[in-house]
Amino acid sequence: MGKALDGIRILDMTHVQSGPSCTQILAWFGADVIKVERPGTGDATRQQLRDLPDVDSLYFTMLNCNKRSITLNTKADKGKEIFTRLIEACDVMVENFAPGALDRMGFTWERVHGINPRMIYASIKGFGPGPYEDCKAYENVAQCMGGACSTTGFDNGPPLVSGAQIGDSGTGMHVVAGILAALYQREHTGRGQRVECAMQDAILNLCRVKLRDQQRLAHGPLKEYPQYPNGTFGEQVPRAGHASGGGQPGHVVKCAHRGAQSGTHTAHGPNDYAYVIIQPQSWAPLMKMIGRADLIDDPEWATPEARLTKLDDCFALIEGWTITKDKYQVMETLNALGVPCGPVLDMKELAEDDSLRVRGTVVEVEHPERGTFLTVGNPIKLSDSATDVKTSPLLGEHTDQILKEIVGYGDTEIEAARAEGAI
Ligand SMILES: CC(C)(COP(=O)(O)OP(=O)(O)OC[C@H]1O[C@@H](n2cnc3c(N)ncnc32)[C@H](O)[C@@H]1OP(=O)(O)O)[C@@H](O)C(=O)NCCC(=O)NCCS
Repeated sequence: MGKALDGIRILDMTHVQSGPSCTQILAWFGADVIKVERPGTGDATRQQLRDLPDVDSLYFTMLNCNKRSITLNTKADKGKEIFTRLIEACDVMVENFAPGALDRMGFTWERVHGINPRMIYASIKGFGPGPYEDCKAYENVAQCMGGACSTTGFDNGPPLVSGAQIGDSGTGMHVVAGILAALYQREHTGRGQRVECAMQDAILNLCRVKLRDQQRLAHGPLKEYPQYPNGTFGEQVPRAGHASGGGQPGHVVKCAHRGAQSGTHTAHGPNDYAYVIIQPQSWAPLMKMIGRADLIDDPEWATPEARLTKLDDCFALIEGWTITKDKYQVMETLNALGVPCGPVLDMKELAEDDSLRVRGTVVEVEHPERGTFLTVGNPIKLSDSATDVKTSPLLGEHTDQILKEIVGYGDTEIEAARAEGAI
């Protein structure tokens, strides 16, 4: 079966997570992704957080599947010559080095565009033009500066970063969209273009509802926030704990440990919780289920407006019932009533989830040096372009192959480049 991006060649100058997450998706859509790495060391994540000695880390293998690897010193003259040939032969170049790194190597956008006017050149940086444009950035720096951190956590606690990598992989996914749009536009114009996305901007995009709330705050308290009605609101959007960002109130409620009801377990696990949302139409069945049918028509409780001032009490009532069921039973019982809810699933449960494996979202991949490893496959499913997850490349595994196939080198030229330290 053909793939959506068959025939598209990506010059992948990315490292760590944000850039690699972008080019991995493009590889899964069928692009030929050529990862350029520094001879000797390669992407620093190959060595970071290793679980096995002398084997590429899971950090690396889980972000670089289906790519080819060439080692190339792009600061050496010979390396620059080869790099120029690769620019001529590729459709898209992606990089996420510290600001100015590629310019310092001599490959500015103007130069790249001059070498290959059809080239789409995408960059991820921490920040766009402005006071922070020269600063390096990692995930949590970006979460702090994009609004995620100030709006996450509890009112009486410090700002919190999310476990979801919204700065790294979140920005990577934004750049995928930019690259695909640029490839489509090139169909009409014949020209490549510059694609830029700052991690701060991508995170703010994901925190859109919090900027919405910042403006609502000027017109009164945010009634769905836990600070209402008894707490106070300042001039900025507060942290909302578990409160839902949508118009329907929701909260995390405690559940029984699985098996506890049959007496086999008594301990309460760290993730024995479920999230429950009270839609107006589900109040009646929910109250019936928990044995409080008396509250269905009681004017003090019957309407969303009446409940706004006592959401804590509402969820305490619900928790009185959920604590007698495990989180899967809560999911099953409440969904049968049309109540939106979800068990808090931990990574062990997700790794073992059959349905995620069946649909290729959790995949076991063969690696030549580590045996198999588990990864998150392509979450975007195309009906006419199936994803086939293959292992990440070893450092420089495809150097000779790429030099022969794309640059047109023979064995003698490859040996000479190797002797010079360029590859
Ligand atoms: C992630 C980040 C903080 C890492 O910083 P770092 O470890 O200092 O790495 P840099 O990006 O500065 O790159 C290191 C050097 O390697 C050089 N290098 C990279 N690949 C090379 C190659 N194939 N050949 C020769 N030199 C190479 C770079 O040119 C740079 O050299 P310079 O400082 O002399 O210009 C930084 O790259 C960054 O801010 N990136 C943008 C934001 C981002 O993506 N962050 C999230 C990462 S998940």
